[in-house]
Amino acid sequence: MSETGRASFRGRPLRAVDLIAQKAAGGRIPADALRWLVDGYTAGVIPDYQMSAFLMAVCWRGMTDEETTDLTLAMAESGVQLDVSDIAPLVADKHSTGGVGDKTTLVVAPLVAQLGLPVGKMSGRGLGHTGGTLDKLESFPGLRVEMSSAQFRDQLRRIGIVIAGQSADLAPADGKIYALRDATATVENLSLIASSVMAKKIAAGATVIGLDVKCGHGAFMKTPAEAARLADLMIAIGDKLGRRTVAIVSAMDQPLGEAVGNVIEVEEAIATLRGGGPADLRVLAIELTTDLVVAAGLYDAETARRRAEAALDSGAALEKLADLVEVQGGRREDVAHPERLPHAPVELAVFPPRDGVVAAIDAKQVGLLTMQLGAGRAQKGDPIDHRVGIRLLRKIGDPVRRGEPVALVAAATEQDAEAVAPALIACYRFSDSPVAPPPLILSRHGTVK
Ligand code: URA
Repeated sequence: MSETGRASFRGRPLRAVDLIAQKAAGGRIPADALRWLVDGYTAGVIPDYQMSAFLMAVCWRGMTDEETTDLTLAMAESGVQLDVSDIAPLVADKHSTGGVGDKTTLVVAPLVAQLGLPVGKMSGRGLGHTGGTLDKLESFPGLRVEMSSAQFRDQLRRIGIVIAGQSADLAPADGKIYALRDATATVENLSLIASSVMAKKIAAGATVIGLDVKCGHGAFMKTPAEAARLADLMIAIGDKLGRRTVAIVSAMDQPLGEAVGNVIEVEEAIATLRGGGPADLRVLAIELTTDLVVAAGLYDAETARRRAEAALDSGAALEKLADLVEVQGGRREDVAHPERLPHAPVELAVFPPRDGVVAAIDAKQVGLLTMQLGAGRAQKGDPIDHRVGIRLLRKIGDPVRRGEPVALVAAATEQDAEAVAPALIACYRFSDSPVAPPPLILSRHGTVK
């Protein structure tokens, strides 16, 4: 691949600078030019600074649905495309567009697999103020998320569940572009999110795709209309490529569940897989699971919901998580005893300034404070501390009293905890009158209504 590749743009050999200028002026980029750009960036011929400028131009000027589909295909085809049809007739994947405290995958993937639909999932790392499934999973010492396509297929065949990161051969363009977006403030764009999510799903061979589109202050999509548009766009891309795609738009105005961090989110997911855990996490996990298995044609919605509840309450789905942890290099006993995983040495309670009711919690700020503690990355490739995080003991609608903590900060040092505590209490808004907890599921899209 060179700056003067075969394809041309307006009668001239392709040059990244022309594509940047075209997009910055609000123009359309043809499919072959997008593919040239993606392939060139993946191969290291087009430098970070040109790709960053292009991404920023997309953020400002947007892309048509057709361009978004072309970009998705170019990214999905930037590496090997897994064909898993010989392993199972249908293979599911679930993806969230990114939230705070969003450990849903750690519950949904084993639950869906336990209900008989194999799950081959390609996940991401923390992005912006949101956490990532791979970072959470790596709270299990020894667990590996990097694997070749052959290993991915082998594990899917053996245990019916895989959660892997981008490898050098699966959607490598998304791996590079995702990290670049995180460092260049080019995350929050509908087309870039849609193409990033769907490229991974398509490359990993998923035939049934369940999307959790987050909506609210703590999400990249701020309004139900924007979130619904993202859901519909991803479904259209999935449908065009012959994948059964369904989506739920779920609220992200406050963090999901109580825990925000890595190991503490893993603990909360395990509690949910034991039939406990916070109600919002349980409900969302059951609904996403239901839509996936209904889309696969395994059960009707009522049966799916009943079976999902039973698989949580009996601990059957937890065994699937234990299988995954063990096969990917972790210790099975850590799933049975997550309290033995490394935890933060310091825990600081945070108190409300007055009696009242929780009226709001700024999810994005909670995500940023969790990053400040070390649970997320400021720069691509930074190490993270899996032990640290924030536990929200009170959520919207809960009463609070002055002497009783509303949250806990789990930190590496006393200074870190004390630096975060005042900002954490400022994330809360209190009211004197009762406040109704906000709805969790805002809309459903795709063939499951
Ligand atoms: N999740 C992804 O995989 N990509 C995005 O761009 C956002 C969330």
